Amino acid sequence: MSISNLAKVLQSNLNAQLELCRKLEEFADNLPNDVDAQNCLTLARIISPILRQAHEFEESTLFPELKKNFSEDAQLMATLERLRFEHWEDESFADELRESMVNFAGEFDSELVNSLSYMLRGFFEGVRRHAAFEREHILPILHTSEGRKPDRMSG
Ligand SMILES: [Fe+2]
Repeated sequence: MSISNLAKVLQSNLNAQLELCRKLEEFADNLPNDVDAQNCLTLARIISPILRQAHEFEESTLFPELKKNFSEDAQLMATLERLRFEHWEDESFADELRESMVNFAGEFDSELVNSLSYMLRGFFEGVRRHAAFEREHILPILHTSEGRKPDRMSG
């Protein structure tokens, strides 16, 4: 994949994750009164696929390409490891969140509202931080590589 395509896919995946966060925040803001069970289930179903698609691209395509081209950049190598670990954490969190949302859609247990709200905020805040980091630190590397090292990255 060319560098400009890597950047495009990353950007589009980041947008999808931020859009998911926006929807989850909207849902959390409407708790506990304005709950749409169908919306709750729909959201529950899309969380993991959106995350996994983004992570799969980064770990199978983007990170190996960066590792190949910047293997001497120890700081970047450590950053990629950390991002990979965060993916794993976010995916585990996403599985838990899906389960809670499916349960909540089944019965609007008022006792669950606080814990669900807390989980939702923890989740989308974490995903937003991760996405912001990748937008600020990984995307620029791709843009710089595209301009300066056309021969170094395979395409
Ligand atoms: Fe990521």
